[in-house]
Amino acid sequence: MILPDINLANIEGKRVFLRSDLNVPLSENLKIEDDTRLCATLPTVKYLLSKASKVIIASHLGRPKGKDSNLSLLPIANWFKKQLAEDVSDLAVQNINGFDGWEITPKLFLLENLRFDSGEEDNSGDFAKKLASLADIYVNDAFGVAHRENASVVGIAKYLPHFAGFLLQKEIGILSSILENPKRPLVVIVGGAKIETKLPLIDKMDDFADYVLVGGKIAAETETLLNLQHEKRSTIRSTLLIAKLTEDGIDITKESVEYFLHRIELAKTVVWNGPVGKTEDGETASMGSKAIAEAILKSGAYSVVGGGDTLNFLKKEGLLDKFSFYSTGGGAMLAFLSGETLPGLQALLSKFRPTSGGIFGRRGCNIR
Ligand code: 3PG
Repeated sequence: MILPDINLANIEGKRVFLRSDLNVPLSENLKIEDDTRLCATLPTVKYLLSKASKVIIASHLGRPKGKDSNLSLLPIANWFKKQLAEDVSDLAVQNINGFDGWEITPKLFLLENLRFDSGEEDNSGDFAKKLASLADIYVNDAFGVAHRENASVVGIAKYLPHFAGFLLQKEIGILSSILENPKRPLVVIVGGAKIETKLPLIDKMDDFADYVLVGGKIAAETETLLNLQHEKRSTIRSTLLIAKLTEDGIDITKESVEYFLHRIELAKTVVWNGPVGKTEDGETASMGSKAIAEAILKSGAYSVVGGGDTLNFLKKEGLLDKFSFYSTGGGAMLAFLSGETLPGLQALLSKFRPTSGGIFGRRGCNIR
């Protein structure tokens, strides 16, 4: 899959709308717990800053129901301020409804959490147009949200010339090579929550992986469903193993860990998304996840890990850099590897056709 490369875009002097995935874990006092996703999009931000006249970065954060001050992008703006002190003198968070026009804004600013407006997740045409009206060019670097049909991921691409950022291109390049030609046995491990996203993907993984190992909340809450969908599948390739949880429910049992480790030892490729137990309580938390991480590294398999909680856990354990590749996508990575068509990628692959007279009415921005 060849996405339109930002290197080919004529950005000089233009206003660019950059969609990144800045959905990072925050502590109770709103401190960033893991900035892996922010660091990953930084090369694209710096490149755009070196060429464009203005750059606006937009993202969702968490799953707010309407406005929620605990999910403001303010802590993230402060992070960028520190990182980019040499490139920008000022950096603010702007609400799309309070946007005063480019003339008085700094060279770079962050749009407030897109999900504060229901138009984002509804992929509303009006909201997409409103976002597009801020810029001349759209760049998507948000692999983590490429599986979501949201206005800033899909709708906006209809109204602006669109390109893929460096991070998105790198993710697709590496994950495509696994999808097309994985070294087998291929073991896929799925844990964590976000059950509604992952359940159908585990089903699809049956065709692709040799072993599918399921732990964490999803294993505990959907064991019967998982078994049913596995049995119903006509083209099963994989062996499915569902972990049992310990009595206190915070981890998988030692026996389940052993079963998992036996499969991991055989693997030539391992893909892992979602811790198999609770990871936020420090040292005693999820011995299962730790044992799995160590076994993957010991196996020598090509190892790919993805998803906010998993990256955060492995970083705390000092193991993240030892994996062959870490993806910024969780659900997006699983969806891509299970062969799904991701709406965010489709939108970038679609041809841009300028509407006659532009979409911006009285503001009359140029679209080329
Ligand atoms: C993620 O954390 O996987 C992405 O940011 C997508 O978030 P979502 O599952 O809330 O859409």
